[in-house]
Amino acid sequence: MCGIVGFVGQKADALPFIFDGLKRLEYRGYDSAGIALALPQGIAIRKSKGKITLLESVLGSLPPGPCGIGHTRWATHGRPTDQNAHPHTDCHGEIATVHNGIIENFQELRAELIAAGHQFVSDTDTEVIPHLLEHYGGAQDLESAVRQAEMRLKGAYAFLAVSSHEPDKVVAVRRTSPLLIGLGKNENYLASDFSAFLAATRRAVAMENGDMAVVKPTTYQIWDAGGHLVDRPVIEVDWDIKQAERGGYPHFMLKEIMEQPEAWSDCLLGRLDGGRVVSSELGLSNELLSHVSRIQIVAAGTAYHAGLIGKAIIERVVRIPVAVDVASEYRYQEPVLEQGTLVIAISQSGETADTLACVRMAKEEGRVTYAVTNSVGSTLAREADAVVYTHAGPEIAVASTKAYTTQILVLSLLALALAQSRDMARPELVQMLRELPGLGHEVLERMDAVKTMAEKLANNHDVFYVGRGIDWALAMEGQLKLKEISYIHAEAYAAGELKHGTLALIEEGTPVVAIITESTLAEKTVSNILEVKARGGEVWGIVDEKLPSTLPIDHRIDIPMRSPLVSSVLAAIPLQLLAYWTAVTLGKDVDQPRNLAKSVTVE
Ligand code: G6P
Repeated sequence: MCGIVGFVGQKADALPFIFDGLKRLEYRGYDSAGIALALPQGIAIRKSKGKITLLESVLGSLPPGPCGIGHTRWATHGRPTDQNAHPHTDCHGEIATVHNGIIENFQELRAELIAAGHQFVSDTDTEVIPHLLEHYGGAQDLESAVRQAEMRLKGAYAFLAVSSHEPDKVVAVRRTSPLLIGLGKNENYLASDFSAFLAATRRAVAMENGDMAVVKPTTYQIWDAGGHLVDRPVIEVDWDIKQAERGGYPHFMLKEIMEQPEAWSDCLLGRLDGGRVVSSELGLSNELLSHVSRIQIVAAGTAYHAGLIGKAIIERVVRIPVAVDVASEYRYQEPVLEQGTLVIAISQSGETADTLACVRMAKEEGRVTYAVTNSVGSTLAREADAVVYTHAGPEIAVASTKAYTTQILVLSLLALALAQSRDMARPELVQMLRELPGLGHEVLERMDAVKTMAEKLANNHDVFYVGRGIDWALAMEGQLKLKEISYIHAEAYAAGELKHGTLALIEEGTPVVAIITESTLAEKTVSNILEVKARGGEVWGIVDEKLPSTLPIDHRIDIPMRSPLVSSVLAAIPLQLLAYWTAVTLGKDVDQPRNLAKSVTVE
């Protein structure tokens, strides 16, 4: 996820507008930023690694202009550096583009363009766009070049392009990643979301998937994917800036929960091919994958819970033993790291001190270390021998949601890649992964019952979460979410362990959240639920929809499960929403809970 802004007007005030818009979009990415103005003498660009404030210091020398584009980056391809910052240009500095999303076939296009004599200066996928536009004569006729380039690009993205020969227009394309045209007076705007132009207008047109637009100071035209000129409705919002940053949601946490299906698509993009996982996209060679004989996962907090699910998936799919440890413990355990062990460090931020310490320790022992992270250029990404990105986009709320589910997806991909390297491919699971974003939307639409559940839960002091197998790991994340943001005491138990002590705490009305997505273990968990109910406990179930309607559960949330090996992320949604709405009911500060930090860089 990155933020993009465009401006085209009759006065030469593109620069302050774009800069202000980028500041408002900084929550979408903040590892580098840049602005390009389309001036008759050529494209003028300023860009800088780091936060927007650093860009400000280099903008002073830019001449004024009426047309330009800007970008705030959340790196996906290529580390956060000045060179990799957007905008990117063609060989002659006549075309500039900014881009949000991923160009899946960029390597192939880049090779083709280099062979045709184009010179690339960055490691990004984005840079193929201006060169492709140049190839199709974009400097003179940007609109037609964008049309032709569009047919060559694969992936999920949005981009803006300007040409110094046509400084009266911005050409925009939307394929999946969001893009809005803001409607001003004698000037128009483009941006990833409303917040970038809300100070100037509340009227906008949302481009739809496949749309291309030509935006001028007083007009705009939109063509759909079939090339037909279309009328998209003008929308008007009464949001304030903060609401706009959150896409209209009251909290970042809710926004991040709701955007999980898109985050999953981004995470899977380019990594599935027919019935196989594209192993090279996971940052590990087939040779290395085939020699892994053990796996040690280290992580903290939510990432540790993702690791627990990863263990179950890898062991079941490929029969390699996996150990999972909390990083703050593992680093002091004098662990035995056998030859052939792959050490996987999972971390959203890539900066958690304990997790980094484990990686350094493993490297000293001569083991191969592998980072699963959401942050390109983070310390973990730089220090590990290999890295795979979760592509969840920036996660702003302290309580992790979309980073967690994308970590699980990456571990599923890894399990399948390991299996392939041993001739144990599982095409049916690959197909199920493909269906996940669609099923995610379905689950999100059914979540009203969770809200009602949360309103009841908010009156309790203690809540128990139970499950078996992967459901136990989900239970651990469910209880952590609730504790983190609602401050209600919650505990997760392996369902079969209840009777060894915790059952003593169950009394009339004690809420117990039971997770049953592992349908083969359902009968066993049901016996434990009966034990709870016999003591007066009230049971909320998050269950595979295929299980009989007669389950002894007081309130039931159905999940369209395919296989626990790939679908557990679907069950994470109601657990996240349960915590969210409980905290909202209690009036807590959902995005910034007390005593907690997004990233813990101390021991
Ligand atoms: C903090 C955050 C958690 C997160 C944990 C690990 O405690 O509040 O949400 O799970 O750190 O962070 P990491 O960035 O390493 O995934």
